[in-house]
Amino acid sequence: MDKKNKVLVVGSGGRCHAMVEAFARSASVGKIYCAPGNAGIAKKAECVDISVSDISALADFAQQNDVDLTIVGPEASLCAGIADEFNKRGLRIFGPTKAAARIESSKEFAKELMKKAYVPTASYESFTDFDKALEYVKGRQLPAVIKYDGLAAGKGVVVAENYEDAENALRNMLVEHGFGRGKVIIEDFLEGSEFSFMCLVNGDKVYPLAIAQDHKRAYDGDQGPNTGGMGAYSPVPFITPEIEQEALETILKPTAKALVENDTPFIGVLYGGLILTDSGPKVIEFNARFGDPETEVVLPRLESDLYEFISAVMEKKDFTPEWSSDGCLGIVLAAKGYPGKYSKELPLQLEGMEGIIYHMGTKTRDGKTVSDGGRVLMVVGKAENLTKARQNALALIEDIATGDYFYRQDIGKGIILDGKKLAAEIKEKIKLTVKDKTARGLRAPKIALVLVGDDPGSRQYIEGKAKDAAETGILAEKILLDKTIPQADLLAEIERLNEDKTVDGIMVQLPLPSHLDEAKVIARIDPDKDVDGFHPINVSALWTGGEGILPCTPKGIIKLLETNDVRIAGKNAVVIGRSNIVGLPMAKMLLNHNATVTIAHTMTDKLKEVTLNADILVVAAGKHSLVTGDMIKPGAVVIDVGINRNRETGKLQGDTVFESCRPVASAITPVPGGVGPLTKASLMENTLEAYLRHIES
Ligand code: AMP
Ligand code: GLY
Repeated sequence: MDKKNKVLVVGSGGRCHAMVEAFARSASVGKIYCAPGNAGIAKKAECVDISVSDISALADFAQQNDVDLTIVGPEASLCAGIADEFNKRGLRIFGPTKAAARIESSKEFAKELMKKAYVPTASYESFTDFDKALEYVKGRQLPAVIKYDGLAAGKGVVVAENYEDAENALRNMLVEHGFGRGKVIIEDFLEGSEFSFMCLVNGDKVYPLAIAQDHKRAYDGDQGPNTGGMGAYSPVPFITPEIEQEALETILKPTAKALVENDTPFIGVLYGGLILTDSGPKVIEFNARFGDPETEVVLPRLESDLYEFISAVMEKKDFTPEWSSDGCLGIVLAAKGYPGKYSKELPLQLEGMEGIIYHMGTKTRDGKTVSDGGRVLMVVGKAENLTKARQNALALIEDIATGDYFYRQDIGKGIILDGKKLAAEIKEKIKLTVKDKTARGLRAPKIALVLVGDDPGSRQYIEGKAKDAAETGILAEKILLDKTIPQADLLAEIERLNEDKTVDGIMVQLPLPSHLDEAKVIARIDPDKDVDGFHPINVSALWTGGEGILPCTPKGIIKLLETNDVRIAGKNAVVIGRSNIVGLPMAKMLLNHNATVTIAHTMTDKLKEVTLNADILVVAAGKHSLVTGDMIKPGAVVIDVGINRNRETGKLQGDTVFESCRPVASAITPVPGGVGPLTKASLMENTLEAYLRHIES
């Protein structure tokens, strides 16, 4: 597209600023208008003084100024029918009609649609009668979620823990009409972690955006009143690609299709406010527009051209957006008192502030930028991982904030150690090295994966390792042996691999059947090919300070801490677990990095007193739910090595209770997706290192 297109952004908040910035990066956009805009937006767009609710004036403006594309921020404009008016006049607008926007404006509409399309959400009933509603609540389990059925600026939802609260909420909504006359929805409480999944949608075609997480409560620790959102980050490490795919297939796509079948096809941003429960992702709410402040951390990661992306969506063409692997984390600077009473026109000093700063509620007065709302700025850090992004955002907002403002210190705390991403980076590096060597005519590295017996769990581990090898260009020789193999035959097999000059690494999947002597088998592996790092010579090298191959899991964990700038030196580290594979070498490696180390185990008396001292807590006990939030020192870094299958739900879970530990910790690894992928990546790294030694000698 060489034509310089004109874009009109309707709105004035941070999400509109982020859209304006994204359009400003577009090669296809020559002119950006924003109505009404704000002081920050004015730097990149021409601000036009038209209210977001003055639909005919907005349409007139678009017509008179040959605007090629209009995109809408606030739901109020959509619910008032801005898209209908633009469509009627043949003006190109990316946003749903009033009828389709009911997915946001009417909770009952959304619920009925989900019911028809079998989209997972909390079960519900709707009421206009106070007595009937109260009777219903009394027959249900608590907590009950009571929602006013209409736009209520995030304030129309009460999570009632007891009947008194439920009764008060219902009385306010149905008797006193605190939000106006209307219905109430009562739904079951869903437990889990919330996340925001926005998709660009045209009819039944759905184009997912990167996942984000919003922090809705006003104060640290998710305390205080609900707000429009006090901060956000993207990506969200505990939402794996599999969960994302599940949410897309079971929620976003069926919902878009149901809207088409309902004769209210949707064009625009369909925002799924989702919750990851034990039985998969479910819907809390839908919005019909970009989320705020999620957009401010999602769009800076978009490497594709936003104008071309939206144009492709409007033409229902295939388009796969490119995303930066960087993490973005944003913190909202709010006026003191928000979301209650607060002052406007507070001074704001932004000169010389370097970084991504989106204006949420600002204006210019006498040539100076002042506040013009409760949420004033969204200060965003962008860096190679979320920990660094968070540090950047905090450093910048500290410089900007004065006594007139407040912000949350804990945005993005507690869930940001992304083992999967680091594993992918390690593998990418290995792949490049292998490519470089083989391009010069050298042989490829090779790992021998030895499996004795047919235990399905072990088999799965071997397959995972073979897959990682394939991804990095390392050859994998799978050696599958009968579970009755005599010890002597197994040792002979290992000897053969020791002698084989094309084999760089040997890993024997543990545990072995009980008739085999594990220690003897491991001791037979050539220490130089022992890529698991379990051979006594390698173990003793670690403990006595010699050169050896390091065991994979602790090696990966140290790397995870280092890349996330977690200080190890001088800190109290507690390791729960004393296996030769994880616990003991982990403790020694932390000691080598100058931590003070305590090794504990499941029999440790008063374990909580020990763990509460840990700045860094590594849990490798193999016992699910061993560590709960009350055992964590606030701000600790928690590494969960456990991977246990819950007998009831079949889900994988760690040794820590993620939900209760996460809000207390400053960083935590998710299960699965935290340490597991790193262990396999370290195995490939050890194989590569052995290979490099072998081809040099
Ligand atoms: P909403 O306005 O529907 O997004 O609700 C505001 C907040 O209330 C959500 O972000 C959730 O934290 C909470 N909430 C709403 N519905 C439920 C539910 N069914 N179960 C648990 N929490 C809920
Ligand atoms: N951040 C939540 C919303 O945009 O509704």
